[in-house]
Amino acid sequence: MATTTRVPFVSATTSFHNQCHKFCLVAKSITLPVSSSSLKLCCSSSYSSSLLSLSTQKNLKGVKRVGNRSSVVVVAMAESSKSTVLVTGAAGRTGQIVYQKLKERSEEYVARGLVRTEESKQKIGAADGVFIGDIRDTESLVPAIQGIDALIILTSAVPLMKPGFDPTAGKRPEFYFDDGAYPEQVDWIGQKNQIDAAKAAGVKQIVLVGSMGGTDLNHPLNSLGDGNILVWKRKAEQYLADSGIPYTIIRAGGLQDKEGGIRELVIGKDDELLKTDIRTIARPDVAEVCIQALNFEEAQFKAFDLASKPEGTGSPTKDFKALFSQITTRF
Ligand SMILES: NC(=O)c1ccc[n+]([C@@H]2O[C@H](COP(=O)([O-])OP(=O)(O)OC[C@H]3O[C@@H](n4cnc5c(N)ncnc54)[C@H](OP(=O)(O)O)[C@@H]3O)[C@@H](O)[C@H]2O)c1
Repeated sequence: MATTTRVPFVSATTSFHNQCHKFCLVAKSITLPVSSSSLKLCCSSSYSSSLLSLSTQKNLKGVKRVGNRSSVVVVAMAESSKSTVLVTGAAGRTGQIVYQKLKERSEEYVARGLVRTEESKQKIGAADGVFIGDIRDTESLVPAIQGIDALIILTSAVPLMKPGFDPTAGKRPEFYFDDGAYPEQVDWIGQKNQIDAAKAAGVKQIVLVGSMGGTDLNHPLNSLGDGNILVWKRKAEQYLADSGIPYTIIRAGGLQDKEGGIRELVIGKDDELLKTDIRTIARPDVAEVCIQALNFEEAQFKAFDLASKPEGTGSPTKDFKALFSQITTRF
């Protein structure tokens, strides 16, 4: 029986996160089951009177009251100083790296992932923070997005190779998208749904991974499966930039499944890098930039192209504040 093959986006063309614990709850006794590094106390007697009202506030993550009114014991948990970050497309090739990195940095982040199927959930460890949903269905996104601080969007339509391709026949492979899974539905409506849901939930920052090539309507990727994928991705990027939510748009070069952290990253704009030899990047490097974008205000309200120098040339990028400071473009 003929089978379909899911192809890497670019290989198809071959040419390519301090608050002083805001209300720092301290009562007659206090239990701090956390390290001092992850929970900063700003102790004073002035806030004890407002303790009860504070502890009933909405979104008071990780704070429990134990005991009666005269003897309030507050357990302030480290969770309240962490940032809850949702990665969508968390079972995808870059999304799962971002999800994993967030999990590894559990002192700083509470990791959530959105995947499409139970199978994908199992694939990334089936933790409590993994939600099943479809970005084309806004309702299905609400549980995952409710209560998060930041959203990292790594969903994308995926072109499929038509069955029967014979690499020895000297012809180019043909591609298609499943019904309902065209870039218009996934890269435009699906991303828009996420941005709208995030805005409604008061999310503080959105990182969106797009692709280089979007300035060229005739880019070969647009013809894949007649999907105009870069056009729809660009439209979603514009929608995010116009949303008023602090954003970071990362337009990656050709993604490679290579080791990260060993190359010098290069910022570009307007697809200028595509005219050079610097137009690919390792998926773990894109994943790292997604997370670092949460840490620096220099990354906010910015859109940029991202690639890397070949391994062995330049110096591996370690200073992300400096990297983001180079970006001059809002879109
Ligand atoms: N490939 C490249 O060379 C390249 C180059 C530049 C930029 N990019 C961009 O970089 C990003 C990451 O690329 P990648 O190759 O790592 O991604 P990927 O492996 O193709 O992952 C895409 C993810 O989107 C999910 N998805 C698709 N439709 C969905 C829907 N309706 N609801 C929920 N999730 C849905 C998929 O879920 P399933 O796991 O269930 O399929 C998958 O996890 C993408 O935006 C891509 O366009 C790629």
